[in-house]
Amino acid sequence: MRFFALITILAIFGCSDNTRNGSLSTSPTNEDLMTPPVKDIHSYAEPSQAIMQHLVWQAEVNFDSSRITAKASIQVAMDPKAEFVMLDTKNLIIDSVSTGTAGNESATDFSMGKPDDLLGSALKISLSPDTEWIHVYYRTTEGAEALQWLNPQQTAGKQQPFLFTQSQAILARSWIPLQDSPGIRFTYEATVKVPNQLLALMSAENPQQKNEQGIYHFKMEQPIPAYLMALAVGDIKFQSLGPRSGVYAEEGLIEKAAYEFGELEDMISIAEELYGPYQWDRYDLIVLPPSFPFGGMENPRLTFATPTILAGDRSLTSLVAHELAHSWSGNLVTNATWEDFWLNEGFTVYFEHRIMEALSGKDYSEMLALLSLQDLRAEVEEMVQQKNAGDTHLKLDLKNRNPDDGMTSIAYDKGYYFLRWLEERSGRVIWDQFLVNYFEENAFRSMSTEQFLHYLKKNLIEKQHINIYLDELEEWIYQSGLPDNLPVPVSSKFELVDAALNSWANNGTLPDSELWSTHEWLHFIRKLPKDLDSASVTALDASYDFTHSGNAEIQAAWFEKAISYNYRPAYPAMAEFLKRVGRRKFLTPLYKALVRTESGKEFALEVYKEARPNYHFVSANSIDDILNYE
Ligand code: BES
Ligand code: ZN
Repeated sequence: MRFFALITILAIFGCSDNTRNGSLSTSPTNEDLMTPPVKDIHSYAEPSQAIMQHLVWQAEVNFDSSRITAKASIQVAMDPKAEFVMLDTKNLIIDSVSTGTAGNESATDFSMGKPDDLLGSALKISLSPDTEWIHVYYRTTEGAEALQWLNPQQTAGKQQPFLFTQSQAILARSWIPLQDSPGIRFTYEATVKVPNQLLALMSAENPQQKNEQGIYHFKMEQPIPAYLMALAVGDIKFQSLGPRSGVYAEEGLIEKAAYEFGELEDMISIAEELYGPYQWDRYDLIVLPPSFPFGGMENPRLTFATPTILAGDRSLTSLVAHELAHSWSGNLVTNATWEDFWLNEGFTVYFEHRIMEALSGKDYSEMLALLSLQDLRAEVEEMVQQKNAGDTHLKLDLKNRNPDDGMTSIAYDKGYYFLRWLEERSGRVIWDQFLVNYFEENAFRSMSTEQFLHYLKKNLIEKQHINIYLDELEEWIYQSGLPDNLPVPVSSKFELVDAALNSWANNGTLPDSELWSTHEWLHFIRKLPKDLDSASVTALDASYDFTHSGNAEIQAAWFEKAISYNYRPAYPAMAEFLKRVGRRKFLTPLYKALVRTESGKEFALEVYKEARPNYHFVSANSIDDILNYE
């Protein structure tokens, strides 16, 4: 039975030998290798009893009641002695549960555990020794935190409603009962009925146009973890970008989107040349309405993206490189638990920068690396100040915490710098070959931090005789702050920006507005002095009109400064931005900056009252905290 093959003894890194003199050439002892399978504290699943392997999802999407009514048929592989299977659910109404093959189902006992605010309720279903299929008949509720139901006014076309999901990290359970743990993978197929003027898309093989019945079939043949389950429904068109890629968007946005993502096929080829074949057949993107809470989400075969990257000049498409890179780091080799989140995001930022280096040159990718370093230093400083130094560890401790708490610059940027440091110590040729093998040998599996360290030690450090010491690795992963030997990129482009800032300070000359790309402007804005008199702020905005920039990154960076300068002319545009855009990365720093002053807080609350209904749960949840909003 496949089940027992799945429960392999997991090898971990030996930690007993962690000194500089400690030898790295000895293999870990048997004791080091014998540890139980990784336990996921954010799931009720008990994989040693039964694991889901395949999902057949039949669903109807009803916009009038903002509800999905569905049957989830789950094929399980079980220990012959298992008496039950545990699924994760959150705020679902379970109507009935049965077992048996289609057409031959019989009701079975089930019980719901006590609901937990964060984890939801366990659904415990009785099994008999021959159970292979379980069927859960259920409905979603208003508490479906993954789902955002948009009315027509919240879309570009303003005619039809829209629905999208955001399952990462542990919200899949709010729209499908399943084992919501990144260490558990399954294949799926689905049949989804939607109003017949709308198209439905999933993280699967997708249709490219609407049909009259509004019934769509989906298939995902590669096994994926639950957080990659995704659905979008709306008045959506498709445009091809090349033999294996294309873009979906509302009609009014499709041309702009197709131009913006014109380099996508090149990115896919570059990624394959770097780290091996793309394993998911097609790679499409969908541009969602602006309330989408993230920049991008790497749903397999169909990345979900914010419209705020449509800058008109392809300047923000490193985000696409990032989501594409997740097709290897994350979707192929998946963090075992959310405490290992850096394995998803740190690798992906590293891979993203490598794609951008190959596509646009080192000058370009080093700007990204420096912006990432600025974010990282700021985050570390803030965490240390707030006595949260534990959260600066790559390996997180998320006991009794929301995995969302781990979505900080540490996983992304400290993770990136750790891998860059490994590259520098190994040499690029050896390092790249190591990564090719890593993705190939661990494809469609999960990876814990300790398993990664073990793999690294065996396949890089020992095999290639690389001079890396255990305590250096330990410092990166298990200690606070940033190691002294952190690589520091040099960007001649940013040096020019620094020089321009100096000459503005010294003799009042402002740089030519045509001179720079988005990233240079971002660096310029970030580096503006803390205190600036109002005449200078006004002069800046008169020259460049950052307040009304068509580039959301520039606008967001500028608004943060505008708040600190109390530059009121920017406030109406900022209020409009906060009400239209739901991308948490932009919202959080702005609301945080606003609450620092009494009048700012008042303004924030006023805006938020109107903006909140436009935000997805994950954004609203974060901003509620910042504003102490009830
Ligand atoms: N997978 C993440 C988004 C995510 C992480 C959602 C954790 C929920 C929980 C995605 O790949 C991501 O990192 N998006 C970034 C893009 C970026 C770093 C280029 C974003 O949305 O800003
Ligand atoms: Zn990511």
